Amino acid sequence: MNKKNILVTGGAGFIGSEFVRQAIVKGYKVIVVDKLTYAGDLERLKKVEGRYSFYKEDICNRAKIKNIFKKEKPDSVVNFAAETHVDRSIQDASPFIETNIKGVQVILDISREFEIKRIVHISTDEVYGEIRKGDFYEDSVLQPNSPYAASKAGADLLIKSYIRTYKFPAIIVRASNNYGPWQYPEKLIPVVNYKALKNKKVPVYAKGLNRREWLYVSDCAEGVLRVLEKGKIGEIYNIGSGIEKKNIEVVKKILKLLSKPEGLISFVKDRPGHDFRYSLDFLKIKKIGWYPKVGFEEGITKTVDWNKQNLKWIEKKIYKNK
Ligand SMILES: NC(=O)c1ccc[n+]([C@@H]2O[C@H](COP(=O)([O-])OP(=O)(O)OC[C@H]3O[C@@H](n4cnc5c(N)ncnc54)[C@H](O)[C@@H]3O)[C@@H](O)[C@H]2O)c1
Repeated sequence: MNKKNILVTGGAGFIGSEFVRQAIVKGYKVIVVDKLTYAGDLERLKKVEGRYSFYKEDICNRAKIKNIFKKEKPDSVVNFAAETHVDRSIQDASPFIETNIKGVQVILDISREFEIKRIVHISTDEVYGEIRKGDFYEDSVLQPNSPYAASKAGADLLIKSYIRTYKFPAIIVRASNNYGPWQYPEKLIPVVNYKALKNKKVPVYAKGLNRREWLYVSDCAEGVLRVLEKGKIGEIYNIGSGIEKKNIEVVKKILKLLSKPEGLISFVKDRPGHDFRYSLDFLKIKKIGWYPKVGFEEGITKTVDWNKQNLKWIEKKIYKNK
């Protein structure tokens, strides 16, 4: 495939920006399209400043997105753009339906019109719902439980229908919980980090027994690049790490790294509909040469250090969106 020209939506977000940084270093020409919602920030791309094209645009705006495709003529499209926070989706599902379903439809239709050769869409393990024991496979049933997960599952089904109906050249990746530098401070790890650094109570849902599979963000972005380069059109690839932790274990680890007392932990009322556990089988992506490289000890240490060193950025986010 032509290595030159990728259009990346949501490239100013947490995972998208890591993907953009990696793709540029690998020699791709990158076009970033991002609405810059509360979650988007071009500061994440300062390392590669001047080395990508940027359009501040909403993926739901069909006419504007079409103009970008006309001008930039991308060979491939990687769609990270989404509303991503489960708690916000419980408050109001509307932006999730708009961006995560209708926005995806716009990207699909325009990609079809411009005969894009490869479209990689980023989905999540949350589309499968929870699993008490064992793993989810790429063909497991979709049973999403939050409005966020339902909107992502909706997009996956729409893409599958385009693959079948139009022989649309898309690939779906479903990643587990990401963590690492530049994560917006509403997600578990940066929230715990920030509160602990400030000696504030650290809120933990229920008793903290829910389990997640933690994937370091650079591994996730490498996985997406791998799928873009070597994945088979029409297929779905899980991207997991096999690193499963109870939330309380993650919280205690962060407190330990910051030399803060466990007395800061404050158990709060559980999230409604809270999935207990996710776990991905990711043999399929291993078969195309990807495997996770960053262990939890290394990943969490780097993340905690980054959060400590970038407290100003974290505070800017917290106070700007209050
Ligand atoms: N973070 C995780 O743990 C995780 C796990 C699995 C899958 N995912 C998926 O990966 C993708 C990226 O997640 P993230 O954590 O980097 O999210 P994020 O919230 O950090 O970033 C999302 C980006 O999309 C942009 N965006 C939102 N709505 C848009 C719109 N209408 N038009 C254009 N841009 C828009 C935002 O400005 C932001 O830059 C999402 O699709 C998410 O569902 C995330």
